Amino acid sequence: MSAPSFTPRVFSGIQPSGGLTLGNYLGALKRFVDMQDQGTHETVYCMVDLHAITTWQDPEDLRRNTRELCAGFIASGIDPERSILFNQSQVPEHAQLGWIFNCVARMGWMGRMTQWKDKAGKNAENASLGLFGYPALMAADILIYHATHVPVGEDQKQHLELTRDIAAKFNHDYKTDFFPITEPVIEGAATRVMSLRDGSKKMSKSDPSDASRINMTDDADAIAKKIRKAKTDPEPLPDSVEGLGDRPEARNLVNIYAALTDQTVEQVMTEVAGQQFGQFKPRLAEVAVAKLAPIGSEMARLMNDPAEIDRILARGSERAREITAPILARTYEIVGMVK
Ligand code: TYM
Repeated sequence: MSAPSFTPRVFSGIQPSGGLTLGNYLGALKRFVDMQDQGTHETVYCMVDLHAITTWQDPEDLRRNTRELCAGFIASGIDPERSILFNQSQVPEHAQLGWIFNCVARMGWMGRMTQWKDKAGKNAENASLGLFGYPALMAADILIYHATHVPVGEDQKQHLELTRDIAAKFNHDYKTDFFPITEPVIEGAATRVMSLRDGSKKMSKSDPSDASRINMTDDADAIAKKIRKAKTDPEPLPDSVEGLGDRPEARNLVNIYAALTDQTVEQVMTEVAGQQFGQFKPRLAEVAVAKLAPIGSEMARLMNDPAEIDRILARGSERAREITAPILARTYEIVGMVK
């Protein structure tokens, strides 16, 4: 547990690099809404545009994608009154604390990040310095709010461990307990939604095959078609969770169904045991369309009024700065910056 002196506060972020997927929805957005609705924590959600530009973004696309992501948050159920909703670049304390953390984090720590290795690939010499330092900025995103809980999908686990390491090293080096040791919240049936074409690959907006993912902007027909065509094996569904063990495609579809219907995988198994995919897939498609299609159309509606989206973001950054400004000021003091 985090130290009791910290206000219970949730922070999480999504990159506005285009194309929200069902993975983002089930692994992140839906859970952000649940945490907001629980009402036990302050909730702060961010479009991380500074992170997005660690790989090339066309400026017009970035602007549009940031607004579309904001529409996605709201259409999914984030209420900009109850949660703080904003884009990272407009709250300069993120980048400012990010710099301090660049000086706390070690090159070796960064070099071990699997996401860095995956994204930079064999061409690391040509990757941006920002991509290498990405996790230090991510730690700053979280710690500039003294956030105690961070809901994310499985793929962010290593970055959250690094956030804890950075907080611990800062606290140790400066002999303080100023930064909380944050709890990752990686929970539920769909913390790792897989590709619909290959159960060993994560569902991702960067997969070249559009059939591999459900986009939040897909209409009902597209959603149903992608589920109908999803890769499966010839066996009927097993009668226990263990039976899904070596069947990644089947497991993925069951996980998606469980997350969409707010059930555990165990509960789902009692409902679907023994079913053929010919029976299960139409049911899954029905549930997915009922949940996702209204979000897609609400996103489109919100996108018709970009000025309103900009007002929401501007108000969100103002509220965010009320939290971040004093935390940065105190950090500077601890570090020894003369005012
Ligand atoms: P990003 O933009 O890649 O993804 C946003 C969130 O969606 C989750 N996610 C998935 N969950 C389950 N299955 C999938 N297939 C799937 N694909 C994506 C991610 O785990 C994430 O929770 N580094 C972060 C953004 C970030 C951040 C932060 C997050 C920057 N600062 C501070 C939390 C706290 C990222 O690139 O997420």
